Amino acid sequence: MVKICCIGAGYVGGPTMAVMALKCPEIQVTVVDISEPRINAWNSDTLPIYEPGLDDVVKQCRDKNLFFSTDVERHVSESDIVFVSVNTPTKTQGLGAGKAADLTYWESAARMIADVSRSSKIVVEKSTVPVRTAEAIEKILTHNNNSRGVEFQILSNPEFLAEGTAINDLYTPDRVLIGGRGSPGGQKAVKALRDVYAHWVPLERIICTNLWSAELSKLAANAFLAQRISSVNAMSALCEATGADVSQVAHAVGTDSRIGPKFLNASVGFGGSCFQKDILNLIYICECNGLPEAASYWKQVIKVNDYQKTRFANRVVSSMFNTVSGKKIAILGFAFKKDTGDTRETPAIDVCNRLVADMAKLSIYDPRVLEEQIRKDLSVARFDWNHHQIKAEGMLEQVSVVSDAYVATKDAHGICVLTEWDEFKSLDFERIFENMRKPAFVFDGRNVVDAVKLREIGFIVYSIGKPLDSWLRNMPSVA
Ligand code: UDX
Ligand code: ADP
Repeated sequence: MVKICCIGAGYVGGPTMAVMALKCPEIQVTVVDISEPRINAWNSDTLPIYEPGLDDVVKQCRDKNLFFSTDVERHVSESDIVFVSVNTPTKTQGLGAGKAADLTYWESAARMIADVSRSSKIVVEKSTVPVRTAEAIEKILTHNNNSRGVEFQILSNPEFLAEGTAINDLYTPDRVLIGGRGSPGGQKAVKALRDVYAHWVPLERIICTNLWSAELSKLAANAFLAQRISSVNAMSALCEATGADVSQVAHAVGTDSRIGPKFLNASVGFGGSCFQKDILNLIYICECNGLPEAASYWKQVIKVNDYQKTRFANRVVSSMFNTVSGKKIAILGFAFKKDTGDTRETPAIDVCNRLVADMAKLSIYDPRVLEEQIRKDLSVARFDWNHHQIKAEGMLEQVSVVSDAYVATKDAHGICVLTEWDEFKSLDFERIFENMRKPAFVFDGRNVVDAVKLREIGFIVYSIGKPLDSWLRNMPSVA
């Protein structure tokens, strides 16, 4: 029986391996992690991450051919294929701080694999890593193990799943990318991994490349996606200034088959663990390779994202007579997108910081994010692209986290919709309006509420990239 092990039971490792186990019943899959609480949660009825459909997949194969364990070394040593899906955050200090990927976790995982291996293995990079990480990992593995006759083949197999739709993305991926060495050993390893995916992915969707191309493709794909969002967000500012409607512009642009309709929703800004981190990585790689113009092109994608978050917060303040001091603002949605409890790099963090810096009192509601997580996110220092601190003083005293949108909005002066949760579309806005201070404002950072209906009720509504209410047009410019 082929044995597969994955180091790292996070948002990528957990769902990916669960689907692999489901689709390959004759393969034993074990997900290992140093975090005992995380593994305990994977073995319980309350999984550590919220992802639609995941519970069902895990229930079908857990303790049959899918296992979760903290016995990292044993399972690594017994496996034929070892996926590495550990966290690769951006470095916060030292060389490349603020841009380069911190490979501490990766390196320690690689050293451990080298230490415990007594048989040859295929080691698969699953977490996004800077280009040529595989080469570094190969050195660690071979230099620490060459006396035992154990051979390692390194493959790059970046994961393209998006949170919230991970299970479908894994069932029917647009493509699976496998990068490996051109040597006979490298090609044999590529084929072995291709055979695993071929259980459920059509062969024409499995793309095999060299190692570096696979690593760079992942960074490039995320950078292209983020660039589309920054493009439409930059357009949203122009739409507001000119009276055009960004949804209509995006629709008209997206019907061009060369452009396509997806990823053109204007928003308060993109978040998530990947986009910003991967672009920073790309910038760093460009700079290290003497390509400052290419680096500065990608920097602009992040700058526009910062601009969009700031612009939104400024719009809230300027619309409410240029002050939110002492006013209650309801924050609906804190996750970086709907259908996930993940808050990494969520635009809500920056918007909340900026509103509290203007002395607002926030009442935050998110259907999936725990209070503990929100408080943790709002207590760390935040900096924008220009290294300006955007963490507000006295933040946590100004914030309450509640478990209901009606409680959050009661006696509020304004509402900010920061995540596009479906339930926000069907709220009883007449009831909400009754219970709010007047004039009552809604600032929709995701274009999810029915602005026409809300205006009929009596709200002053700001929808990102849409023609402005006369009230908002007459307030100071926020550009
Ligand atoms: C992304 C990539 O899509 C995925 O392929 C990769 O493996 C990991 O990074 P993820 O971050 O989970 O996935 O979610 P995604 O759907 O890409 O959304 C990222 C951010 O962009 C979210 O904050 C989302 O709200 C925002 N977004 C997305 C927009 O603002 N507008 C859009 O049109 C699409
Ligand atoms: P991602 O979103 O990429 O899956 P996460 O941060 O959610 O990233 O998950 C990474 C996981 O990797 C964490 O649960 C962390 O505990 C685990 N991890 C990091 N280093 C090691 C290691 N050396 N051995 C085992 N697990 C590790």
